[in-house]
Amino acid sequence: SSSGKINIAIDGPAGAGKSTIARMVAGRLSYIYVDTGAMYRAATWYFQSLGIEPEEEELVLQTVKDLVIELIPGELGQQVLVNGQDVTEQIRSLAVNAKVSRYAQIEGLRGRLVSLQRQMALRKGVVMDGRDIGTTVLPDAEVKVFMTATVEERASRRYKEMKEQGEISLKQLEADIAERDRLDQEREISPLRQAEDATLLDTTFMSIEEVVETIVSYCKIHGMES
Ligand code: DC
Repeated sequence: SSSGKINIAIDGPAGAGKSTIARMVAGRLSYIYVDTGAMYRAATWYFQSLGIEPEEEELVLQTVKDLVIELIPGELGQQVLVNGQDVTEQIRSLAVNAKVSRYAQIEGLRGRLVSLQRQMALRKGVVMDGRDIGTTVLPDAEVKVFMTATVEERASRRYKEMKEQGEISLKQLEADIAERDRLDQEREISPLRQAEDATLLDTTFMSIEEVVETIVSYCKIHGMES
């Protein structure tokens, strides 16, 4: 593009480390990080706060018109606002975890979030992570990575993160992650899958730094100027 910037799409299953990696790659390149999972989580929090179940599609489609999501980059990570209210912590709750895949299956909700995501990437210089970025949201992204790790490794990483909360076992986490993989892969609209032109990156035995370096090197191959 004329700015010399590119877009980078990072997809993969829950717990593969996409958000940590995407944030660090964005930092290295002085690009903008867009966490699309946080947008589905924010929408889930919003519908739950209104007492609207994912099965109530009509109601979801009526109320989604009043939903405004803002992602604000900050020193301590990204802040998430729903209609002006800071829900950064609430969107990581077990209640949201348990239901987000269900709301994410609703076509009208996806359409609305996808168009927002495309707007955010119009000027390039974006690192966007999610499930359908390389396939649907930004099919023309210059760099596409599909990040994976085994279910056991992803559960063990999440477990270390959540230990302080101390309310969930490793076995339970493995089961939750396997169930979310299934829902994300089997849904009809924009299921989780690797784009044909995406590079598969299995991070099971890689350090965070190694993964970041690898992706930054892909960007250099693509002639990115920073
Ligand atoms: O990446 P995450 O765990 O924060 O994502 C939460 C849920 O949102 C995940 O179960 C699937 C859904 N999601 C999606 O359907 N499409 C995206 N682009 C990002 C997330």
